[in-house]
Amino acid sequence: MAYTFAQYQESADYIREKIGGFIPKVAMVLGSGLGFLGDAVENPTAIPYGEIPHFKASTAPGHKGRLVFGSLAGRPVAVMQGRMHHYEGYGYDQVSYAVRVLRLLGCDALIVTNAAGCVRTDWQAGDLMLITDQIKLFSESPLRGENLPEFGVRFPDASHLYTPRLQKIARDTAADMFITLREGVYFYCYGPQYETPAEVRAVRLLGGDAVGMSTAPEVIAAGHCGMEVLGFTLLSNMAAGILDQPLSEKEVLDAAEAAKDKFSRLVLGCLRKL
Ligand code: HPA
Repeated sequence: MAYTFAQYQESADYIREKIGGFIPKVAMVLGSGLGFLGDAVENPTAIPYGEIPHFKASTAPGHKGRLVFGSLAGRPVAVMQGRMHHYEGYGYDQVSYAVRVLRLLGCDALIVTNAAGCVRTDWQAGDLMLITDQIKLFSESPLRGENLPEFGVRFPDASHLYTPRLQKIARDTAADMFITLREGVYFYCYGPQYETPAEVRAVRLLGGDAVGMSTAPEVIAAGHCGMEVLGFTLLSNMAAGILDQPLSEKEVLDAAEAAKDKFSRLVLGCLRKL
């Protein structure tokens, strides 16, 4: 099922009514561990996803499932506290639905954060990575189906999905804060099972530095409708097979908790400059 432009407009109209004249400029999709930033929004208006026409609920652990509008680091933001994932049973058009609605509401930039497995053996769990590009080869596009020209062209360029200007802001901000920031390619796997060691070796051969189950669909949709994108990955664990130990969700959530100060300082520092 694909959405019509009228459906996106209906969602946007519903939200507009709730937020009065407020116009968000930066959309933020907060993944595992950073959801708490949604609670730091000043003068917030929070709207549960379930209330908004055509929105889907987020069922992943640690994901609250609401949109928070207000001011963060001095910028007018729309924070998605919790995202939709394909592995929850949603189609990619559903996973990326909110991004387009936030575009209609006025957002021209998107900050995405996630936790992912570290594919590089010369990096460590707990490191932060600036996403410079992504690979989503083995699953369909969120843009599949009839193109909605109100958002963008049928065959959008994807050479710079992660905006070079924003990447520079991230590098400079990390350097100013003495935060080590890795840079690399996010490789999307749809999960929900973690990868096999053989898959991780394949990801490495194919050019991935981090492997995770989110982000790539939303970023394709954001690029299509002309949004600038800045993406960060918390490398929450070494990817499968690198260490001789099983992966668990607890490891991911513990790492997210341990990194949340550093991660949130960096993200807020960048946001301030957007
Ligand atoms: N693989 C996929 N997704 C993840 C991982 C991983 O190792 N860690 C956190 N999210």
